Amino acid sequence: MLNESTITIVKATAPMIRDHGEAITTRMYEILFEKYPQTKPLFARAPKNQPQILARSIMAYCEHIDNLDALKGAIEKIAHKHVDTDVHAGYYPMVGHSLLQAIKEVLGDAATDEIVKAWKDAYFFLADVLINREHQLFTEKKQQPLATE
Ligand code: HEM
Repeated sequence: MLNESTITIVKATAPMIRDHGEAITTRMYEILFEKYPQTKPLFARAPKNQPQILARSIMAYCEHIDNLDALKGAIEKIAHKHVDTDVHAGYYPMVGHSLLQAIKEVLGDAATDEIVKAWKDAYFFLADVLINREHQLFTEKKQQPLATE
């Protein structure tokens, strides 16, 4: 479970995320592809505005972190997309570290240790939710008989 102070701190960063979310996710992808080039092919068919899409989903998370039920539909959609593009659990730490690095670089001094720690906890909490759902979907997919023409 996320603790109360993480929830409070993450919610308090909403204005920063609203103003700088896209700069953060744009930088995040640069760091990700530079440090972990094995992730690049996964995005071969991603739309050009992928950083904007991710920034919007982070903003939604920030706003609803105290009521995750509101994010059920979005989580379901993301999990299906990840399974379709073969995103596995092992990639989550790579994205997590790139995201936290980007938060530090873009927000500078405003990214206090407390804020970075809260976002770290929040990211890996959401990562776990997605990983569990994606694991279920991968298992269901494997069990499906091959589609006939
Ligand atoms: C908490 C972590 C993450 C969040 C919130 C997130 C969010 C999203 C969102 C909102 C989409 C668009 C879904 C749609 O089009 O319906 C997406 C797609 C995608 N994500 Fe993630 N993601 C996360 C982790 C990851 C990780 C770890 C990877 C692997 C490197 C990854 C790779 C992708 C790919 C390849 C797509 C599909 C791009 C496309 O072809 O359209 N994501 N993700």
